[in-house]
Amino acid sequence: MVFEFIFGVALLLSAWLPAKSDGIPDGVLHMECRDRYFMMAVGLSFSGEEPHFEAVDETGVYPITEQYAAECGYSVSVLPLQGHVELRASYFSCHTDNKDDKVFTFNFNLMANHFGQEATFTLNKTCSPSLPWSPREVTCEVNYMEVSVRSEVTCPSGTKKDDWDAVKTAHSSTTSDWQVMFQRAKEQSIPTNLSEAHKHGYVFDLTDGRLVFRTPYGQPDSFSTEVNGVPVELVHATLFSRQSWVVLMVDLVAACSMYEGSYDENGYMMWKTPEVLHPLLSGLHNTQVNIGVNGEFLEQPVAEERGYIVEKHNGTVQLSIPYNADGGYRKSCVTEDLYEFHVFNLYLEQILVDEDHVQTRLRLHRTWATPLLPHPVFTHNQTVNEEHMFSVYLGDVPDDVELAAVHLNGHKFTVPFTNTSRHAITKVVHPNSTHGYTLKVPFDDPVVLQQFSKEDAAMQHKLDINYTLTVLPEKEPFYHFASVMAQSDVCKSLTLYLDLVEH
Ligand SMILES: *[C@@H]1O[C@H](CO)[C@@H](O)[C@H](O)[C@H]1NC(C)=O
Ligand SMILES: *[C@@H]1O[C@H](CO)[C@@H](O)[C@H](O)[C@H]1NC(C)=O
Ligand SMILES: *[C@@H]1O[C@H](CO)[C@@H](O)[C@H](O)[C@H]1NC(C)=O
Ligand SMILES: *[C@@H]1O[C@H](CO)[C@@H](O)[C@H](O)[C@H]1NC(C)=O
Ligand SMILES: *[C@@H]1O[C@H](CO)[C@@H](O)[C@H](O)[C@H]1NC(C)=O
Ligand SMILES: *[C@@H]1O[C@H](CO)[C@@H](O)[C@H](O)[C@H]1NC(C)=O
Ligand SMILES: *[C@@H]1O[C@H](CO)[C@@H](O)[C@H](O)[C@H]1NC(C)=O
Repeated sequence: MVFEFIFGVALLLSAWLPAKSDGIPDGVLHMECRDRYFMMAVGLSFSGEEPHFEAVDETGVYPITEQYAAECGYSVSVLPLQGHVELRASYFSCHTDNKDDKVFTFNFNLMANHFGQEATFTLNKTCSPSLPWSPREVTCEVNYMEVSVRSEVTCPSGTKKDDWDAVKTAHSSTTSDWQVMFQRAKEQSIPTNLSEAHKHGYVFDLTDGRLVFRTPYGQPDSFSTEVNGVPVELVHATLFSRQSWVVLMVDLVAACSMYEGSYDENGYMMWKTPEVLHPLLSGLHNTQVNIGVNGEFLEQPVAEERGYIVEKHNGTVQLSIPYNADGGYRKSCVTEDLYEFHVFNLYLEQILVDEDHVQTRLRLHRTWATPLLPHPVFTHNQTVNEEHMFSVYLGDVPDDVELAAVHLNGHKFTVPFTNTSRHAITKVVHPNSTHGYTLKVPFDDPVVLQQFSKEDAAMQHKLDINYTLTVLPEKEPFYHFASVMAQSDVCKSLTLYLDLVEH
């Protein structure tokens, strides 16, 4: 009786749990402070395939839509191979609270579709990046470019803080006279005020010590060019303000390599960027390059050990990564046969120094995928006639593929075999993330075809094997066929038979 009562309460509690929406189970949400952005990862099994985020500050709640994310410094990526959705928010994103460019607080809502139920979670994260800000920083995110410059570097001497405050008020104030002009090749756009520019997707902001400019890719004022044979997208904004007889001018250049990546027959994925993207980003060529994956840089020995290669030639920085190197994600897929592809979330940093020893730090996020590469499985005939048993090994089966069934001379057997008395299948696991299966079928099994060969005075045994393999998690099937034959000497078989009878 007591037992039943406890059980009843437990049931009641568990029935109530899903409705509770102010807590996220452990291990589902992961929030991190990275050098230049907040990183939030939410498990897809918890959030559903299409979770939504909202940025929150004291002025309101702002849904992070695709367009809004690109303007305001947010990137949302669903990463099915990693099993999570990732939100990256720049420290200079529109709704991040910024204290002296040192302490950043981001309040946001996560709307998850959890088992068909919409649930909202109110979250926040505070970060104090340890890496000091370089005088000039450029971020090439997947969906936007962002530049920030230290205001005193760009300020001509004699500029007062008040002049800069004009930029800050430009969004709202009608009295602000800051204007922006976009330069494309030799042309210049008509100057517009900052609120007008904001309407077109450009965001200018003044923080405690930095001037920030952000633009989505593919804007009307951006231009695509080629630098040392590499496609580059560039936005060049000139801010200016007429203060009595002095004109203040600031050049802000966002430039990012738009190279799509290539794949060569030696199994390397290749990517490149010009050493110098724009004269205004650096005058000198000696650049330091740091390479990373998934938003974190790797120590050089680690990158080397993984086979990542960084080379400079012809004014470009070239990056080569073996398609199956650590740090990437692989996935099997079926189009008649078995294929695989590999995905890399590349993170690259270039540190440039110009004639005045002003440092520019350029960081780039790109997702890279190989084309579909064939991944053949193979069968190996390991039969030893004397054992009177077929032994066939199926190998090179990737981790995300499993054997579902075999057809033996047309008879279907699902795996694992329910009746293992006659034939057996054993799984063999290898350290290289592949596995295999050994199938054993006795020559005299009813499924084996037997034929007497007069010439050889021998018994011929034939087994056609049609393997049904499925790719997980979608359970897409594909087939692998093998046919094996074996002979057993009739006399020997007979003696063996007689032996058996005698005993
Ligand atoms: C931020 O999150 C923490 C832990 O989840 C919570 O205790 C705190 O109240 C939150 N702060 C704000 C301002 O929402
Ligand atoms: C900005 O320019 C637009 C169009 O020229 C004008 O309507 C608007 O009042 C201006 N805003 C400010 C803040 O000057
Ligand atoms: C560098 O440029 C030269 C001339 O354009 C070309 O022949 C050479 O192949 C290039 N080197 C590399 C490694 O791309
Ligand atoms: C194996 O399956 C056959 C046919 O279903 C059955 O007759 C036989 O008894 C089974 N053997 C064992 C050991 O389960
Ligand atoms: C993995 O290891 C097994 C056993 O050493 C080998 O047969 C197989 O070819 C390897 N597969 C790959 C893809 O390296
Ligand atoms: C293997 O089985 C599948 C599904 O039953 C069939 O479509 C395929 O043709 C078979 N392959 C061979 C070589 O018999
Ligand atoms: C498989 O192995 C057996 C025993 O070694 C051999 O007799 C036979 O020719 C091999 N090949 C095939 C295709 O069955």
